[in-house]
Amino acid sequence: MTFRMQAVQESGTVRVADRVKALRASGVDVISFTIGEPDFPTPEHIVQAGIDALKSGFTKYTPSAGIPELREAIARKLKAENGIDASASEIIVTPTKHAIFMSIIALVDRGEEVILADPSWVSYEPMVRMADAVPVPVRADEETGFRLNPELVAEKITNRTRMILLNSPNNPTGAVASREEVRAICELAVDHDLLILSDEIYEKIMYDALNHSPASFPGMKERVITVNGFSKTYSMTGWRLGYLHADTSLVRDIQKVQTHSVTCATSFAQKAGIAALEGPAEPVRRMVAEFRRRRDLTVRKLRDMPGIEVVEPKGAFYTFPKYSQGMDSEKMTEYLIDEAHVGVTPGSSFGSFGENHFRISYATDIATLERGLDSMKAALEKL
Ligand SMILES: Cc1ncc(COP(=O)(O)O)c(C=O)c1O
Repeated sequence: MTFRMQAVQESGTVRVADRVKALRASGVDVISFTIGEPDFPTPEHIVQAGIDALKSGFTKYTPSAGIPELREAIARKLKAENGIDASASEIIVTPTKHAIFMSIIALVDRGEEVILADPSWVSYEPMVRMADAVPVPVRADEETGFRLNPELVAEKITNRTRMILLNSPNNPTGAVASREEVRAICELAVDHDLLILSDEIYEKIMYDALNHSPASFPGMKERVITVNGFSKTYSMTGWRLGYLHADTSLVRDIQKVQTHSVTCATSFAQKAGIAALEGPAEPVRRMVAEFRRRRDLTVRKLRDMPGIEVVEPKGAFYTFPKYSQGMDSEKMTEYLIDEAHVGVTPGSSFGSFGENHFRISYATDIATLERGLDSMKAALEKL
């Protein structure tokens, strides 16, 4: 193993999923709340666009940054919905996760610091480490409503800080940054000459809250990389399609990584992406309405469990309850698998302030949610 990879942990979410799989293979009926993936099929008109592209022979390399029609459709979307003064030439089409990885590799140098919320998505920290850079976690637990607090961010800025990672709505907590918080973080970036990477992949899975893209604030375009994707909004996780937008000066360097790694995004998936952006919005509305019902049920049932405290999520499809049972989150997760036959993700996978929490993904049908949550309650009552 290289020195670089020694610093990178195996993903905790994958470890739990493997344990659930192994139990199921031995005949136990395990309910899994671990998966970060909508359970709906990809909407029909999107699938059809992919099929049509395949049938018409659209199966070869595309321009590295993506096909012009899709980049133009993305630029229109970013302008209309996010208030970002985007043009097609500033967009790279690539899997969302790769967009984040490329941005960090291209723009953060060895030894530089990247500020991120703790808890936050499992892959940010390893990506920063793979760039030989230094992740700097900022406490974002119940005390700040799970949101990245600008004052706490300011305390962590040094002369080595290069980038702030913002993820709203947040995985694993479902927290949504307020306009004032985003504005204050933008001001910090200007004052200290920093970049912001804004991961907005859950922007449309939102309940009574609004998304505020940092790149839409005056003067911010030159220092914000906006990342978004089709996986969650359109239930397209397997299509591996997302994108990033950044100023030309930044895109040029990120584009070099794209050219020398994946070359381009999958050809026919890009055609499906156009259908997703330009087709009917009704399937997304239906999915979000269903997620809201599930969120309400999950929060209500969790609040009825002993020792559990829940902040109501405002977006995404996760909730991040805190428990007071006095065991670490790996142990709690094992207990819930063994006793309730329910898989959840240990909070410590998302950072040290995630300890004494677990993540529930409610991207599962209502009947399964009810069964699993009832079973968890019974298990917690035994402790
Ligand atoms: C916060 C966040 N960003 C990015 C991604 C990556 O998305 P994709 O599967 O489209 O690469 C995920 C996936 O779980 C996520 O939760």
